[in-house]
Amino acid sequence: MKLPALLALAATVTAQNVFITVPAEGTEIAGGSDLVVQIIQPGTQSSHVNIGLAIGLQPCPPEELCYPASSVLGYALYAGAFDPVYNPIGSSYQNFTVTIPERTIKGPAMLGVAHAGLVGVMGSPDLQATSVQVMII
Ligand SMILES: *[C@@H]1O[C@H](CO)[C@@H](O)[C@H](O)[C@H]1NC(C)=O
Repeated sequence: MKLPALLALAATVTAQNVFITVPAEGTEIAGGSDLVVQIIQPGTQSSHVNIGLAIGLQPCPPEELCYPASSVLGYALYAGAFDPVYNPIGSSYQNFTVTIPERTIKGPAMLGVAHAGLVGVMGSPDLQATSVQVMII
């Protein structure tokens, strides 16, 4: 029975997380404008399979706190394939150009990314969320 050994191996493989490099924290963005969102995925792991990702925008009124991206992604600006290209610096990355809705509430907002993948030789489903705080002007 080889299954327990395979499961133990799968458990030691960590998810290949993604990070938002652009826009930077605190970037001011006008409603109605296009925004480049750059997502990097450091390293390479042959046993990791990208399913896709979503980019969302959650306005955070001044008197309220933003919900973490892991529970609220907000208005979906993009949902689909994640196909990063290798970059000699060491991280694979992909640029997404999204349009900020014209009537987005002005003030602080959270740009969130949810990334889905299959991890390890057993292909364990993994969902990861990350975010950056921006300012809608
Ligand atoms: C991705 O976006 C960054 C930041 O705007 C830019 O410097 C870079 O040239 C873009 N890369 C591609 C392949 O478009």
